[in-house]
Amino acid sequence: MSEKTVQQNTDICYLNGEFIPLKDAKVSVLDRGFIFADGIYEVIPAFSGKIFRLTQHLKRLQDNLTAIKINNPCNEEQWQTIFNALIEKNNYNNTDCSVYLQVTRGVAKRDHVFPADSTPTVFVMVSPLAPVNPEILKKGLSVIIREDIRWQYCNIKSISLLGNIILKQEAAENNADEAILVRNGNVTEGAASNIFIVKDGIIKTPAKDKTLLPGITRDLIVEIAQKKGLTCEQTSISLDELLKADEVWLSSSTKEVSPVCQIENKPVADGKPGPVWARMYQLFQEYKKSLKQ
Ligand code: PDD
Repeated sequence: MSEKTVQQNTDICYLNGEFIPLKDAKVSVLDRGFIFADGIYEVIPAFSGKIFRLTQHLKRLQDNLTAIKINNPCNEEQWQTIFNALIEKNNYNNTDCSVYLQVTRGVAKRDHVFPADSTPTVFVMVSPLAPVNPEILKKGLSVIIREDIRWQYCNIKSISLLGNIILKQEAAENNADEAILVRNGNVTEGAASNIFIVKDGIIKTPAKDKTLLPGITRDLIVEIAQKKGLTCEQTSISLDELLKADEVWLSSSTKEVSPVCQIENKPVADGKPGPVWARMYQLFQEYKKSLKQ
């Protein structure tokens, strides 16, 4: 294990073609990311220097760029070269980190209409990725439930996260780990995670549409379930179903697959992580291990 637990003063990032100290990285105040939150981002884990589900993350990146009409500034190989260089330069070859990348429409005179000729701003940094807290694996997460106040293109990984951070802050102020969101009576996702429930041995997760982010971890869990013969349905989940579930899980690149044991201060079933989660957690760890070899 490395001693790296916090962002260091010496960290190197990538900004517009250059590898420079993070503390020296600067963008213009006219960058449309700053002015309009006009951009998208990705968070990609790298375990012992190996980038996790790279193809899937880069496919989502491309889908997002296409959705907001920004040309992809790099091809798959160029992205990979940048990520690997940052892993190397920041000494994450033998420890875990997350790669954060952001592409904005670039610098232009303030105007809502897209500029004809701006050059996208490309920023990438790496941060330590701590293993999921063992306490969470034992005791589970605690969540609140809130109306999904976000916009109608939640499938886009927009850097405009005001709705998400307001909801996450509300969770923190209520001593909870996450806010589970409900739109038109159905559960969509968490403020920064996807959701799964288990009822009578059947795993369910909302189908992918514009109300939720197509999580890379979510897709992997569905893929693992299908491969291992666990029944997993991609379908709508009502608030009532959530409250009556035997198990509830959250997934993300940083949470992996974590059990939820308290909803609005009430236990989920017996208040302990369930057996289907334990099986999925084990399969997920096996999958990670298989990539390290
Ligand atoms: N968030 N839904 C939302 C709204 C998210 O922000 C995230 C991840 C997910 C899970 O997606 P994935 O499995 O691809 O990480 C679902 C990242 C980790 C973040 O914003 O930091």
